[in-house]
Amino acid sequence: MKIGIVGLGYVGLPLAVAFAESGYDVVGLDSDRRKVDGVNAGRSHIEDIADATLGSLGGRLRASSEQADLASCDAVVICVPTPLTGSREPDLTYLLESATALSRVLRPGQLVVLESTTYPGTTRERLQPILEESGLAAGRDFHLAFSPERIDPGRTDYTVRTTPKLVGGLTPACAARAHDLYSLICEQVVLLSSPEAAELSKLLENIFRSVNIALVNELAQLCDRLGIDVWEVIDAASTKPFGFMRFEPGPGMGGHCLPVDPFYLAFKAREHDFYPEFIELAGKVNQTQPSFCVERIDRALNGARKPVNGSQILLLGVSYKAGVGDVRESPALTIARQLIDLGGEVSYHDPYVPAVPELGLESVDLDEALSGVDIAAIVTAHPGLDYEEIVSAVPLVVDFRGVTRKISAQNLVRL
Ligand SMILES: NC(=O)c1ccc[n+]([C@@H]2O[C@H](COP(=O)([O-])OP(=O)(O)OC[C@H]3O[C@@H](n4cnc5c(N)ncnc54)[C@H](O)[C@@H]3O)[C@@H](O)[C@H]2O)c1
Repeated sequence: MKIGIVGLGYVGLPLAVAFAESGYDVVGLDSDRRKVDGVNAGRSHIEDIADATLGSLGGRLRASSEQADLASCDAVVICVPTPLTGSREPDLTYLLESATALSRVLRPGQLVVLESTTYPGTTRERLQPILEESGLAAGRDFHLAFSPERIDPGRTDYTVRTTPKLVGGLTPACAARAHDLYSLICEQVVLLSSPEAAELSKLLENIFRSVNIALVNELAQLCDRLGIDVWEVIDAASTKPFGFMRFEPGPGMGGHCLPVDPFYLAFKAREHDFYPEFIELAGKVNQTQPSFCVERIDRALNGARKPVNGSQILLLGVSYKAGVGDVRESPALTIARQLIDLGGEVSYHDPYVPAVPELGLESVDLDEALSGVDIAAIVTAHPGLDYEEIVSAVPLVVDFRGVTRKISAQNLVRL
């Protein structure tokens, strides 16, 4: 059994490692030469995969940039990015390019699985015709399925093995092949009736989070007006053992999935003259949150008789979530940009993100940064920071993550 993984990113590399750890030969294809060279030299570019883990695979994972290497695989799993275009439409460029390249080396008997998050219909309407340019027919000459990735970077309590895997095949035989593939590395594989059902299930999971985060973000904005501590309210509601699920407000939504996926579904819905207002409203509410955070920084400075213009503002954490270095769609970038536009002298400290080239900023040493700033804003609550020390070292602290709830200080403002 030999498995090909196309795209060695946050999704593809852990998946490749999971197959290799289970004893299978894996070829990981990536268009980024540095990632290919890094993996082959035992250097991981993903926080969740240690260099030592790559080193322990006994040569069963080999990275490559040669499409031809996929020809000898029994199964090929596609894990390439599915971002948005500038006008917030699905951008399937990476997917279509990788499918075209795969069609040139596809051979009878192979299984192809798409894992990239996308709108319902992508596997059948977009991927299948391209793969069939090979002259082979899906469902007859090769098998085709969709299986959404559920990885949550930084999470250790659920792994590729212990998280149930959804599978939707083009035909029952396609589904059975995909089921057998994932049974090699997952304890539970759940079969769905079609790729479309599997594609939409993944969007539902992410949109469920987006909608609930929008709800608590809106509540945080209301609590600000009412003078009520939103964290106290959420803690209180969370004591209910049934019928309530805890979500926390923050500086806005980031990452490759939550801010992006609702637009994928909205795009498909529009094709059917349907406008998912509820879902789009959640996206809008979450998009206003960084501006609300900038206003909170502005107000906090104003209370100290300082304007944003010319103030030294330190952002603590710029990645989209704690414990990872991914800045895609991170609300911290919007907050930084807005503050810079207002004349703020913005710096940041993030142990996971050495530089943000689009802002022309590099992470500063924390001890040095704390002396001399007018205000520090906790945007991403990375582990290992001593927030008590930060609150005592800086004239003003604004906390958008609720990590200072146990600290009581005059110079501290919470979302
Ligand atoms: N990151 C997550 O937490 C997460 C979770 C679930 C699902 N997903 C979905 O999985 C997909 C991949 O996301 P990711 O976070 O792993 O992205 P990523 O950017 O970390 O990795 C994608 C990789 O694909 C490579 N690539 C792009 N085009 C290629 C091509 N034509 N051939 C070979 N390699 C190519 C890139 O160089 C990159 O290394 C997306 O659809 C995403 O929505 C991501």
